[in-house]
Amino acid sequence: MGPKLLAWIDERFPLTSTWEAHLSKYYAPKNFNFWYFFGSLALLVLVNQILTGIWLTMSYVPSAEGAFASVEYIMRDVEYGWLLRYLHSTGASAFFVVVYLHMFRALLYGSYRKPRELIWIFGMAIYLALMAEAFMGYLLPWGQMSYWGAQVIISLFGAIPVIGADLQQWIRGDYLISGITLNRFFALHVIALPIVILGLVVMHLVALHEVGSNNPDGVDIKKFKDETGKPLDGIGFHPYYTVKDIVGVVVFLFVFCTVVFFFPEMNGMFLEYANFEPANSLKTPDHIAPVWYFGAFYSILRAIPDKLMGVIGMGGAIAILFVLPWLDRSPVKSWRYKGPFFRINIIVFGIVFMILTWLGTKPATETYTLIARICTVYYFAFFLLMPFYSVMEKTKPVPERVTG
Ligand code: HEM
Repeated sequence: MGPKLLAWIDERFPLTSTWEAHLSKYYAPKNFNFWYFFGSLALLVLVNQILTGIWLTMSYVPSAEGAFASVEYIMRDVEYGWLLRYLHSTGASAFFVVVYLHMFRALLYGSYRKPRELIWIFGMAIYLALMAEAFMGYLLPWGQMSYWGAQVIISLFGAIPVIGADLQQWIRGDYLISGITLNRFFALHVIALPIVILGLVVMHLVALHEVGSNNPDGVDIKKFKDETGKPLDGIGFHPYYTVKDIVGVVVFLFVFCTVVFFFPEMNGMFLEYANFEPANSLKTPDHIAPVWYFGAFYSILRAIPDKLMGVIGMGGAIAILFVLPWLDRSPVKSWRYKGPFFRINIIVFGIVFMILTWLGTKPATETYTLIARICTVYYFAFFLLMPFYSVMEKTKPVPERVTG
């Protein structure tokens, strides 16, 4: 861009100053590692979902009579319709893979700790909105699992005392899940929730840029600055991390495209088999299972025998994540400098979450239920006891500067 044109724009619009504040002079710690790829990858997947979603909407019919057939039409007759659909359905699973790894990174390095509590809270709000987005999107193909999955989840609201039954009907807009429900889920899925998610992502990043990024050592890079005010351990986000993030994008696209082109159903994990049959309100599938990314919370729900208590347990398992910044009272942020008990439990927590996720997709046999119960108790103990065990142990000395 010519300097004259740039000056003309800058007098009217903060182009150069915004570029500098958020990219070229946004100083990020120089020791970002593998775990720091997932924020930019989440942005990439978000863009993928929005773009493929717009094109799917062009051929999709949001009615109980037309929905299933329109998805088949997209798969068979629309030019590259199969690709659009697989990019979108695989994108949904990829979104959760990326976001779970992104969240786990925060747990490893204490990125939710002061002053980043709001980054975490906005992140959690994104996560909630994302779950609602995925749930509503899943009803749209109007297959058996769309219908019965929604039936199970909406019926959970029925467990709420006094208002439960009315609330269920209010959500469905009908006495049973019908075309009316499909219509409103469509409206929420294609416009309302994407706006909410985009708004929250902006707030997430504004909060991040206000306080600056954390790093694997959990040290504050703003403590040591050169004479120009640039942190000694910081490098400009652009070009250093824009280029580094491209490496992450290329590796991600390799894996993502392999799934899209060779394993789009992922053995019934990304697209469930029962969903290749049209919705039938008179025939319940043998085994109703949510898509894998809801598995952990579904396991917690099933592990608790009473329905209302199960719903409270499931809600509590998500709610407790919101207050994580206030549960961890360790004097150090990063797990690198925490005591062995905390370190081991971060790993065990990751494994327990994966076991719960896996169990959520399996039928509830006696053994599986027992494992789910043990894992559920561990899940809550990990968080509820954190205020105590996080201060009990001796921590390692934290370096003044990042360790590379
Ligand atoms: C659409 C979903 C999301 C997008 C696009 C997104 C994007 C980003 C980006 C680009 C960054 C900076 C780069 C990085 O640190 O990796 C970031 C940082 C962060 N995100 Fe997210 N995020 C999303 C969801 C979440 C969720 C669900 C959580 C947790 C509940 C979360 C928690 C954090 C935290 C704590 C940081 C600061 C990390 C640090 O400074 O070390 N994010 N996010």
